[in-house]
Amino acid sequence: MTYKIGLLKGDGIGPEIVDSAVRVLQAVGKKRGIAFEFTPYLIGGIAIDETGEPLPQATIDGCLASDSVLLGAVGGPKWDMLSGNQRPEKALLGIREKMGLFTNLRPAKLYSALKEECPLRADIVANGFDMMIVRELTGGIYFGERGYRQGKYGEEAYDTEAYSRMEIERIVRVAFETARKRRKKLTSIDKANVLETSRLWRKIVHELAVEYPDVEVSDMLVDNAAMQLVRNPSQFDVVVTSNMFGDILSDEASQITGSIGMLPSASLGSGTRGLYEPIHGSAPDIAGQNKANPIATILSASMMLLYAFNEKSASEDIVNAVDRVLELGYRTADLARGKASLSTTEMTDKIIENL
Ligand code: IPM
Ligand code: MG
Repeated sequence: MTYKIGLLKGDGIGPEIVDSAVRVLQAVGKKRGIAFEFTPYLIGGIAIDETGEPLPQATIDGCLASDSVLLGAVGGPKWDMLSGNQRPEKALLGIREKMGLFTNLRPAKLYSALKEECPLRADIVANGFDMMIVRELTGGIYFGERGYRQGKYGEEAYDTEAYSRMEIERIVRVAFETARKRRKKLTSIDKANVLETSRLWRKIVHELAVEYPDVEVSDMLVDNAAMQLVRNPSQFDVVVTSNMFGDILSDEASQITGSIGMLPSASLGSGTRGLYEPIHGSAPDIAGQNKANPIATILSASMMLLYAFNEKSASEDIVNAVDRVLELGYRTADLARGKASLSTTEMTDKIIENL
């Protein structure tokens, strides 16, 4: 059995961090007797440069023919002047939609070795911090109708947030199921004091709660949630929220773990074929310098082993190796706070050594 993995390296630091994760997968595969076949496809700015479009049909076909997909990052200043539909970011939204990946799992936890790197006061994170953000990924304002029109004050741009009952129900169910496998606490985050979509969201959460009496569920307004995350992050177990709120809150949560370079994610649909990607972007300022933290992508590969292939031991090997390397004090520049740091390839080597 050989797992076919599509690689979407993308732009900026994307190729470096995907190469790192591939090396780790090969090493853990060797140890556990798992074979992988990797096929690269173009996405984002590099795809625009080489084919004229951010998401070529060949990439969509290749991803749909893969068992799973690993993605680096897309975008960069070179393509910032392009119009909305031509931008590299559109390709990322596009591939998520084409693959039907409506669920984005973003686990954020504080590694004990990184307590010092956490920007919050020690007493605030004394109880640790371990949450799972369940972000809706193919609906809401990132996919709604948008455009330009003449408004009350002349030229205006607009974006619309729309959520159907079906879209809300399926993501909220994923969140309840996820909570069941964890500490059985679910916080649904919305802006129901203002937004109609949030009021439908909240109503559906309450309807479904009846089916999950073992899960303790509560609602929280998104502005309060942003504040609670830094006031008392250990109160959260599973969080479920819309596409945009999840995008924003996951960046905030990542910083509590020490660096955005630590957070992996799994984008899933109804089947087993998913897309695994770090939550961070392409970091053009450090691209090509062998400086990026590869851990978020390496942990995304570990999530792939678990969710896509049910290779639990191999998945845990990676998590444990990351843990050990951090305990040993190794840091990439984002975590080193000016002290000596490892390069991307050196950090990858250390993780492989500790598998
Ligand atoms: C993320 C990113 C993307 C998103 C961008 C690059 C389109 O911010 O994965 O969090 O908003 O989903
Ligand atoms: Mg984001």
